[in-house]
Amino acid sequence: MPAPGPRQEIRLAELMAAMSLATDISMDQPMEEGVTICLLATRLAGVLGLSELERVHVYYGALLRHIGCTADMHVLAAVAGDDISMRSAFVGVDLGRPVEMFAAMMRHIGRTYAPLERPMAIVRVMAATGKFRYSGEVQCEVAEMLASRLGFDESFQRGISGVLERWDGRGFDPAVVAGFLSKGTELLSVLEVDSPWDRALEAEPGERPVLSGRRLDEALRAMGDFADLKSPYTVGHSGGVADLAARAAERCGLPSDDVTATRRAGWVHDIGRVAVSSAIWGKPGPLTRSEWERSACTPTMPTGSWRARGCSSRSGGSPRCITSVWTAPVTSGRRWRGSNRRRPGSSPSPTPTTP
Ligand SMILES: [Fe+2]
Repeated sequence: MPAPGPRQEIRLAELMAAMSLATDISMDQPMEEGVTICLLATRLAGVLGLSELERVHVYYGALLRHIGCTADMHVLAAVAGDDISMRSAFVGVDLGRPVEMFAAMMRHIGRTYAPLERPMAIVRVMAATGKFRYSGEVQCEVAEMLASRLGFDESFQRGISGVLERWDGRGFDPAVVAGFLSKGTELLSVLEVDSPWDRALEAEPGERPVLSGRRLDEALRAMGDFADLKSPYTVGHSGGVADLAARAAERCGLPSDDVTATRRAGWVHDIGRVAVSSAIWGKPGPLTRSEWERSACTPTMPTGSWRARGCSSRSGGSPRCITSVWTAPVTSGRRWRGSNRRRPGSSPSPTPTTP
């Protein structure tokens, strides 16, 4: 039986859940944490009696709450080293409490730098506090822009840009707290479900939109731009690869569906780049062997991580929704004859449109 062709349509929820997996790995968080939070938030929205539109916004807001996270990581990495380690250190920290933030930064410096390097790292971070304050604004602006390109309306865009805001600076909305406490045990049972991915897709409120044609193209293009923002050297890279690959497919005389699939593969082929620190992508000198190995394996990283969690073995609601729209993207980092991109000791290429 011939292999099925690339899918021409895909549920928005599947695509956004895949984005949440990418943000999970970009922050060194457990895989499917984003979809688990989505499930919990959506159930809480139901307990609170929110309208259908509000529940839709809660659902997608939970999945996409970190889509601005790649916006300025190269700036922070230049100041504080490994940005993924730093983001991990700040998970669970109340951003309204300077003492907590300072402690998190010290934790990050302690595990990132050798003892003799730490005093200088602390001085560098203290001198750059303005950049850290500005970082939240940049990430919110980028999140709003990406949400727009993913097809969400203005009210959602405003919501996603304020996802890091707090109710009043002194805690949480009492009505939300009361709703949570009224069903706390039931709500927290989502932490025990065996398949957060499947449960989250089942829990999508509203009309469950499906993307196809240009809307699907634009969503995949936005996902590529999200990954490219990881480094100023790669801005525009995924779009360049998509155009080049599609033109090559046309020159080879492939059917139009295959040309479309090839272009879509180009847009998302480097989504795994977010799993590697911006300190590596922007390193001015030669990479060490371990740095090179980390950067060289990015195309397989998301699918590899998903597979390790058993996600890709499930039919229907699996990250196969991504791979099913293109042709073998996991090989995108390899060239003919099986050799990989850079060699140990070589410098990163600053050329933005070279696959
Ligand atoms: Fe690439």
